[in-house]
Amino acid sequence: MKQKIEALRSRLNALNYKYYVEANPDISDYEYDMLLKELQELEAQHPEYDDPNSPTKRVGSDLVNTFSSVVHKFPMLSLSNTYSLEELRAFVDRIEREEGPTEFVCELKFDGTAISIIYVNGRLERAVTRGDGTRGDDVTTNIRTIRTVPLVLRGDNVPEYVEMRGEVIMPHASFRRLNAEREEAGEPLFANPRNAAAGTIKLQNSAEVARRGLDCFLYYMVGDKLPFATHWENLEAARSWGLKISDRMQRCTTWEEIESYITRTDALRLELPYDTDGAVIKVNDYSVRHRLGATAKAPRWAVAYKFKAEQALSRLLSVDFQVGRTGAITPVANLEPVRLSGTIVKRASLHNADQIALLDVRLGDMVYVEKGGEIIPKITGVELSEREDESTPFEYITHCPECGSELVRIEGEAKHYCPNSDGCAPQIVGRIIHFISRKAMNIEGLGEETAELLYTSGLVRNVADLYSLRPQQIASLPRMGLRSAEKIMQQLESSKSVPFARVLFALGIRFVGETTAKYLASHFRSLDAIMNATEQELAEADEVGEKIASSIRAYFTNESNLAIINRLREVGLQFEEGEQSRLSSQLEGVSIVISGSFVRHSREELKALIEQHGGKNLAAVSGATDYLLAGDKIGPAKLQKANKLGVKIISESDFEQMIVGVPSVADIGEEDRKTTHQSEKIAVQGELF
Ligand code: IVH
Repeated sequence: MKQKIEALRSRLNALNYKYYVEANPDISDYEYDMLLKELQELEAQHPEYDDPNSPTKRVGSDLVNTFSSVVHKFPMLSLSNTYSLEELRAFVDRIEREEGPTEFVCELKFDGTAISIIYVNGRLERAVTRGDGTRGDDVTTNIRTIRTVPLVLRGDNVPEYVEMRGEVIMPHASFRRLNAEREEAGEPLFANPRNAAAGTIKLQNSAEVARRGLDCFLYYMVGDKLPFATHWENLEAARSWGLKISDRMQRCTTWEEIESYITRTDALRLELPYDTDGAVIKVNDYSVRHRLGATAKAPRWAVAYKFKAEQALSRLLSVDFQVGRTGAITPVANLEPVRLSGTIVKRASLHNADQIALLDVRLGDMVYVEKGGEIIPKITGVELSEREDESTPFEYITHCPECGSELVRIEGEAKHYCPNSDGCAPQIVGRIIHFISRKAMNIEGLGEETAELLYTSGLVRNVADLYSLRPQQIASLPRMGLRSAEKIMQQLESSKSVPFARVLFALGIRFVGETTAKYLASHFRSLDAIMNATEQELAEADEVGEKIASSIRAYFTNESNLAIINRLREVGLQFEEGEQSRLSSQLEGVSIVISGSFVRHSREELKALIEQHGGKNLAAVSGATDYLLAGDKIGPAKLQKANKLGVKIISESDFEQMIVGVPSVADIGEEDRKTTHQSEKIAVQGELF
């Protein structure tokens, strides 16, 4: 038994790490909760094996070193949860036994990452992640980029100090867009919107955070002096201050009302534009909350009822292996058609070899399929009771199903790759399709099908061949005429003026997506500079880490890539960042030094803006500097020098005002709102409750 307990502890510790530190959990919440429950029960039965370091004794931590860590004034507790209506009923009954008839508030359980946002005198002061519940990471700069989070509260009863607790979520639309971009760049996809939200809130570059389209719901007010004595009224007050509070909350006084809220929510959630994984039932009155108190981990006045993800059971008929343009292999399951959340599912993702091994999925098995925020359903488990006796473990392929090359596995990556990038058809066709796509060279009239035909007919073996095509050759393809051929020729011709950043993206270097290509182009300004840069120099550009840098180096050491690049250069594609077209002369003769990190623009963007408006960007503060554009975490030496030399220090918004006509992403209107202090406050003791 001791062994079993220890095995569970180490498995849960490993899972906690994946969940909290890497924000990339291996298994579903349900499976995790079941393992935790099993351990809790065993520990209760065997107190002799007690261990203060057991995962049941602490909440996970998502602290990441690079953010400054902050102690929560009021700890951020978790919620106890249940999957059973009986247990929920027992929770309600227990409270009514102790407290008499009680009013509850039922809410959605948002599936994102918890956040605490502190407002002082109505102004956003700080935003902190949950961390280990006692201390979290200061992610204020990132939270400020969320459009629905007001920077200044409005109204006349705003407390001097209030903490709003809530959930940062990534709506489905943002999630799909982000994953599509990552897929295009050959980057690993986020498994679900929760991971994407948790990963995004920890990004170093807040401009990238802003682009990803997060949202935030607030569901709990904490403070020494709150305006009202009930949760409901406080949230209504918060709503009136401009905070985003869900309108799907309900006050309930009977079990029937609670049960019906849950049934309705379970059905409703499929239609919501964001993920929810349950309902939260909370006592409304703060004084009742105070009497009920809390355990070390969770309040005794609230509980989460978690929905099981909708599942279907179907037979696994076969597994296809798709080869992407980067050579990555993706196993896809073919299933007996089955109905799931209103659609018929025939195919489901199996992710990679590790996932297949972890689930021990075998051909002919009855498997569970689930749909999350993702478009493609996934296989989450096997019904072992229905397994045929003669079934054998699934053997992952060792060779490319398309070209027969032996597959390789790059250390630290989950996927297998076909290394034959120059001779494997789907990789070549994939690269051509990527090259001509809208966000890359944008060759209209040349679709995926034609690209494939051009390849199979032997006319085009790589992207450079596109520029040697003659109209007659294109016209000879099925469903093509001379007119459409001429149009394609025209498109190819005009693609020669496509800006360098898009050309760089079009090359299809692994991990170099649209955004990274822009950063690289504005940092290095020419393809030659990128080709000559060392890995270390590459990693100095915004948003380029070691992994991307090494992939770029690998791309430019490949002989056939170099040959293609030479031909594209001869054809006349843009291999240099063109002289930025002047937007204005507002900054003519003005020299600006940039320091720190900014909310609405990356440093590269600010640099480009300075130049586009006729100004000069200098690296160091000197007598020749007119302004120091100061962001968060500005270098102290620069600040000191600027002060000494009397250099004017300006903020990002000051800068935005200097360059007329540049729209600011910030909701500037928020700043203008008047802040007045609350007139009436009800002091609630025991802040937490
Ligand atoms: S109240 C002390 N309300 O669920 C109680 N939490 O599994 C504070 N969550 O850490 C939490 N929706 O991140 C509350 N309507 C809601 C929620 C909610 C999602 C999250 C929250 C919490 C986790 C616990």
